[in-house]
Amino acid sequence: MRILIFDHYQSMSKWVAHYIGQKINQAKPSKEKPFVLGLPTGSSPLGVYSEWIELYKQGLLSFQNVVTFNMDEYIGLGKDHLQSYHHFMWSNLFNHIDIREENVNILDGMAADPLQECWRFEAKIREIGGIDLFLGGIGPDGHIAFNEPGSSLSSRTRIKTLTHDTRMANSRFFSNDISKVPKTALTVGVGTIMDANEVLILVNGYSKAHALQKGVEEAVNHMWTISMLQLHQHGMICCDEEATLELKVGTVKYFKDIEREALGALPVLN
Ligand code: GLP
Repeated sequence: MRILIFDHYQSMSKWVAHYIGQKINQAKPSKEKPFVLGLPTGSSPLGVYSEWIELYKQGLLSFQNVVTFNMDEYIGLGKDHLQSYHHFMWSNLFNHIDIREENVNILDGMAADPLQECWRFEAKIREIGGIDLFLGGIGPDGHIAFNEPGSSLSSRTRIKTLTHDTRMANSRFFSNDISKVPKTALTVGVGTIMDANEVLILVNGYSKAHALQKGVEEAVNHMWTISMLQLHQHGMICCDEEATLELKVGTVKYFKDIEREALGALPVLN
């Protein structure tokens, strides 16, 4: 697993936006062979999304031939609900770039048959040939997507019950009222994420420091689903200094040293 440690959230976001932008451009995606991107919601990816919007406006990056699959969606929130992940994605990214609406895939939290909706989503990922790169974030309890502690490490897209901690953490988007946060969600599984050719996880801020330590310095464990990244052939964590506060000094020094070159240059888009 690669770990890139940036001074600040801003430099982390800019580097990640350029890194993925470079991957998209290098793949020379077409309608027949699009670049397939897995995407998260939450505050962690917001910096990457604004940077992509800038790169698009500057004519350096196009999403015309990019197909996206979002990680998760709350059950019971319609597409127009201000806190639905549909609304989040359109207002923070899709409305500002040239992505085609038919290329956007987000689980439907209002589906009459939620399990069927999960199978449909998995089948669509398979039909397109899998995900090229899955971008994600983590919760303070180390969850990726909504794969809460104890989730099967080979899980597929399904319904999950959210923990009290996660609902508490996400209540900041629901006027700090935990009773307004849905209790269940549809989420891709750990296995779904791990099937991607590459997985890049954003970890920023002190509230994620404990989860980062568990995921990086301890063994693969279903109680910290992020730890599964250790088994991925192309797994990368991009974090800020604050998130490293519980890592050993030696771990931080090691990764800073071996990633010195990557950290020193912004990936070029051409
Ligand atoms: C939610 C999402 C996760 C996300 C996490 C962290 O629980 N399901 O995919 O990684 O929040 O969110 P934030 O980036 O806002 O800290």
